[in-house]
Amino acid sequence: MSKFKIAGNTTLNGDIEVAGNKNAALPILAATVLTDDKCHLSNVPDIADVRAMLKLLKSLGKKVDKKGDNQFEISGKTDTKKLDEELAKKLRASILFLSGLLAREGQVEMPPPGGCVIGRRKVDTHFQVVDHFSGSVELMDNGNYFAKIDNPQSGKLFLNEVSVTGTENALILAAATPENTIISNAACEPHVADLANFLAKMGAEIEGIGTNRLIIKGSKKLSGVSHRIAPDHIEAGTFAIAAACTGGDLTIHDAVKNDLISTSRVLKGFNVDFEFLDKKTMHVKPSQLKSVISKVQVGLWPNFPTDLMSPVIVLATQAQGATLCHDWMYESRMYFVDKLNMMGASIIQADPHRVIVNGPSPLKGQHLSSPDIRAGIAIIIAAMIAEDESIIDRVEIVDRGYEDIENRLNSLGANIVRIED
Ligand code: EPU
Repeated sequence: MSKFKIAGNTTLNGDIEVAGNKNAALPILAATVLTDDKCHLSNVPDIADVRAMLKLLKSLGKKVDKKGDNQFEISGKTDTKKLDEELAKKLRASILFLSGLLAREGQVEMPPPGGCVIGRRKVDTHFQVVDHFSGSVELMDNGNYFAKIDNPQSGKLFLNEVSVTGTENALILAAATPENTIISNAACEPHVADLANFLAKMGAEIEGIGTNRLIIKGSKKLSGVSHRIAPDHIEAGTFAIAAACTGGDLTIHDAVKNDLISTSRVLKGFNVDFEFLDKKTMHVKPSQLKSVISKVQVGLWPNFPTDLMSPVIVLATQAQGATLCHDWMYESRMYFVDKLNMMGASIIQADPHRVIVNGPSPLKGQHLSSPDIRAGIAIIIAAMIAEDESIIDRVEIVDRGYEDIENRLNSLGANIVRIED
């Protein structure tokens, strides 16, 4: 267990480089099981979820070689049809091995995936995908899932839900199936597109990358490739919000303008003064924060991402006026606002999905605990702008999604000390 001791009253200034996208790295690592050839991945974020995914790959028999900072070479055959239970239960993304193992081994036994407790996170769409490819899934007596596909068949697949990892499992299976697959109602986040680009390099023919209709002609023989994981637009948005909350002057590199359209709209809605210096460099300046947006609602891509809602709630606490924040996707994402209220924020929880934030509120340091990756980083931002010191417990949850976060923030002027229990 780790905690952070965070000094308040800090301002973030300078330059920061965005890391590779967590939610692109995870499915791409899972998709390396589609080939025995060498895959060289760069810009892989050094985060706990990636480390767990690499351990899972090794436990499946794959060879994993670190090739310098943020670079890995993955090669070799999988030699088991069963996912390591302890490792798989640690993260939601373990469900992404379902497709690759079905494609290579024809069967897989795996426990229900773990991950952040931010609501009732179903796996129905994943099972719909298996069913579509003429497979079956059953619940075993030991609580694990057993899935198998003897002779994959495909065709038109309309996903019941616009699920990110559901779409990714469908893409991975489609890439390994020689028949045509047309996935409609697909998720189209930048990380889904990055996985599709990776699969296309491996040899799958994919049309519609970046849209919600994907047409895939797969192949039984996919080859090893080199791929740079795309930058993390959620991390870019998080840094922009942190800079705005602290009144800092921050230049964010590898902040892809095209991936930040809805986020930019929300930042403008809080009167954040920023500009893009070029297609992937964002400059955030000290701003007079006010809520001209009044309502922030998450949506399916390209709308505002749910994974930025928690930091935006902190931004709303520093902006003049009232903001209604609405996340219809997750039932439990909003409960962390209690912690912000303990710090002095004025937030009314209307129901599990909606909070009304009245700002601006000066925040006071507190002893808090990190509930999930995104609420965790939100509380860290709140602690940096509080009047005095805060202690944040369970920061290993934040380590799941943000690389070396205390040192990167400290290089910008934060004062965060990690204490290992
Ligand atoms: N949902 C709907 N209707 C939809 C789509 C989604 O109700 O049309 C609900 C789902 O039922 C679920 C939630 O929204 O409760 C998220 O659904 P999804 O299946 O898309 O989520 P996921 O694939 O399990 C990925 C990310 C999450 C991110 C979500 C939504 C990975 C490994 N995880 O999860 O990331 O919040 O998409 O964008 O890609 C995080 O990075 O902190 C994180 C939780």
